[in-house]
Amino acid sequence: MSITKLLSKKLDRILFTTPSHNQKPFFNKEFENFYKVDYSEIEGFDNLQEPKTSILMAQGKVSDILKTKQTFFVVQGATTAMLSAMKAIISPGEKVLVARNCHKSVFNGLLLTAGLVDWIMPETDPDWGIYTHIDPNKLEQTLELNHYKAFILTSPTYEGINSDIEQIAQICKNHDTYLIVDEAHGSLYNFSPDLPKTAIEQGADISINSLHKTAGALNQCALLNISNTIKNIDIEIFQKSLNIFQTTSPSYPLLENIENTIAYLNSNQGALELSNLMENIEKIKPELERFGIEFYKAPNHDKTKILLKKEGISGNDLSDTLFEKFNIEDELNNSLSCLFLTGIGTTRQKLDKLKTALKKVPTNPSYKPQSVEFQPHPLVKVQPVATFNRDYIYVNKNDSLLKISNKLIMPYPPGFGVLYPGEAIQMWHLDYLGNNVQIMR
Ligand SMILES: Cc1ncc(COP(=O)(O)O)c(C=O)c1O
Repeated sequence: MSITKLLSKKLDRILFTTPSHNQKPFFNKEFENFYKVDYSEIEGFDNLQEPKTSILMAQGKVSDILKTKQTFFVVQGATTAMLSAMKAIISPGEKVLVARNCHKSVFNGLLLTAGLVDWIMPETDPDWGIYTHIDPNKLEQTLELNHYKAFILTSPTYEGINSDIEQIAQICKNHDTYLIVDEAHGSLYNFSPDLPKTAIEQGADISINSLHKTAGALNQCALLNISNTIKNIDIEIFQKSLNIFQTTSPSYPLLENIENTIAYLNSNQGALELSNLMENIEKIKPELERFGIEFYKAPNHDKTKILLKKEGISGNDLSDTLFEKFNIEDELNNSLSCLFLTGIGTTRQKLDKLKTALKKVPTNPSYKPQSVEFQPHPLVKVQPVATFNRDYIYVNKNDSLLKISNKLIMPYPPGFGVLYPGEAIQMWHLDYLGNNVQIMR
């Protein structure tokens, strides 16, 4: 029986188990339906740590849909999926190549696995102030110089830029390096012909989806996907690894939500919703272009991520005005551009409101765009594993140059560091630091 069927049946059982709430809320009636389906691993309900029945079946169906060797349900976000993937692949002291625009969970994965990091910088687009793709040639040169157990990158980026995973996967295979793709923002790719191919379809060994970001699932729903073509690894290691990081009391409502999200995306109704979304996004563009709005365009760009700029106003001011005057909140902005995320649940009406507001935002004809400064290549002085629980002192910012930072400096979103613990403070970082800087002793 599927997780959904189990939860939709009225249970005639007297439970002396956890959770104790008896499937009823005590304070907030709003949560009534959520409580009704909040069980633990009672008889017949399967166990996420060792799935044998309903959860195994649900995972199997998703795996078939995504064309993976195995897909695991994760109820603690892409963060936990990434930590588990890294623990399964990386042993202490093995070298790992990481794209600098990876989410901070990758740094934490290095800290926990004792993998040794080398960073590779993604390409940039100075006209939009964003990081873009990983250059396959640069990757190949890097892999020629050193052997890495794994290469981890983010594709798509927050802004919907996709690296050429097909080429990257081939390069990694040639160098005996596992390819882990953080596809947190690409959970819809399997379900629309108008979106890029999935990382797994393109040859990645492992991919991670965050279903709550754009696929319409509740927060914390995620998937860990293992490819049919992965080599030299016992698949059981992934379950073992997940069992370290995942709770022994996973939320059944979340498990059901994962099952249903994928079933919906895979249905005719889901396909229609996605195709309407893509169509509605395209519809607002021509009119806005006449009002001085420029949309980011690139081959293989994920169009559900609307990246735009308006003539005569900075991205930051555009964001502030939309929020203050029109009650519209973007996901991210910089001095040049603003990012609006869409997905399952983004209605035509919502897009029309954005269109109306964007047209009305006042501009200044004498405004001159200011460039975005991209961070320098990091100087790793202490490997992530050795950065935890260090003795530290404070120094004045002016005395901190080339000292080793004990702190993570990270604007969120997008959630990747401009300075991680263990890295030398460079001139570029000074603007991000307060007057007192925590450095390693
Ligand atoms: C690229 C990327 N990967 C991973 C994550 C972590 O996802 P989650 O919040 O599902 O743990 C995020 C979250 O912002 C992200 O942007």
